[in-house]
Amino acid sequence: MSQLTSRQPFPWSRSAVRTTESPISWLMAKTVGDPEILSLAAGFVDTDTLPQDLVKTAFEKVFADASNAREILQYGITPGSRRLRQELAKRLERQGLTNVDPDCIVISNGGQQSLYTVTNVMVDPGDIVLVEDPTYFVYMDVLRSAGARVIGVKTDSEGMMPDALEERFAELRAEGVRDRLKILYVMSYFTNPKGCNPSTERRKALFDIYQRELADGQYLMIEDASYRDLCLEGPDEPFIKAHDPSNEHIFLSGTFSKAFAPGFRLGWSYMPRELHDAVARQKGNQDFGSSNMNQAIVAELLASGAFEIAAGRFRDRYRAKRDVMLAALKEFWPSSAHVLKPMGGLYVWTELEGINTDPGSEFFNRVLEKKVLYVPGRYCLCDETQGPRLTNGMRLCYGVIRPEPMREAVRRMGEVVAAMS
Ligand SMILES: Cc1ncc(COP(=O)(O)O)c(C=O)c1O
Repeated sequence: MSQLTSRQPFPWSRSAVRTTESPISWLMAKTVGDPEILSLAAGFVDTDTLPQDLVKTAFEKVFADASNAREILQYGITPGSRRLRQELAKRLERQGLTNVDPDCIVISNGGQQSLYTVTNVMVDPGDIVLVEDPTYFVYMDVLRSAGARVIGVKTDSEGMMPDALEERFAELRAEGVRDRLKILYVMSYFTNPKGCNPSTERRKALFDIYQRELADGQYLMIEDASYRDLCLEGPDEPFIKAHDPSNEHIFLSGTFSKAFAPGFRLGWSYMPRELHDAVARQKGNQDFGSSNMNQAIVAELLASGAFEIAAGRFRDRYRAKRDVMLAALKEFWPSSAHVLKPMGGLYVWTELEGINTDPGSEFFNRVLEKKVLYVPGRYCLCDETQGPRLTNGMRLCYGVIRPEPMREAVRRMGEVVAAMS
């Protein structure tokens, strides 16, 4: 008779071992587990503004024709619905890009899948990725899982700083690892977490450095434009991609989540042809393509103009909510608190003088005792920072919370700041 041995742990792959739980999961679980919590942490969109009416109309139209309905209930093709890619290409051209080829677009399950897939295409363990510091922490999770060495580049109120980027390139050369650089990841609109919007000049300066550095070896620039449709104030800045009219360099990533409906789980990316085929193959391995039905609805909404109506409603709502948050910060927090006014997006970045905001810090715990949550800046910092590590930053999101509880959350936090100042 065979002897049953005690069960051994599964022999995880190296990638599974590197894939640790995202800190945001803990914050989300806290929010869901306690309905009294006022969360300024969750990056969800405004529930009241979700375009239920416009989506219903589009559904009815798309399903009115039986053969059309059956077609979209069938599997689609991996890069995504042709109609949606064509509508998207037209929209990108309306937004200033030229000659956008729908065959260089891949539709994905949210922008997150585009980032994940292109990272799989480009990065082996030990390869280097340059990112803003602080940066979008869920992408940092993807990079760590891929085994990348994530190096931060200093940011100011306009995002990634050109001088700091040049410094990083010089360091990579001095260390003899410039050939391991695979990706430069830049958020080009209302960044997560700082809410920065690079000026026209800043966009050009970053692209110029990227291009100059190609002389020392090929690498990819990812432009993450997820928040482009949420411009609340000021001019509509051009895509960095506009500097790449022959579509040779930049992987432009976007989403239908932020200004429309994250429930569709649809995003997109527009990229050089050679990359397109590699990205599509990776996506094919994951899912054979995103939901054909969801893509048909979004294509219809783009074609009818309803998408722009929904985006406009979100902008109006967020402008009002952002102003409520800024007014509450002014009213309830000391003037020594640094508050970066966002011109768009979903986040207000704040820094407190002399107060540590890390998870588990006295400040964090006291705020949590008052049933308020924020995203500690620490979660968004890279492993390799330039200069001293920031310990006093916070991301406050006005996306999903309603104005009154938001004011109350800011007020309670202000009490803690005052008690600890
Ligand atoms: C900067 C940035 N990029 C990409 C994403 C991915 O969003 P989604 O997968 O919903 O498109 C997010 C979501 O918060 C984000 O903040």
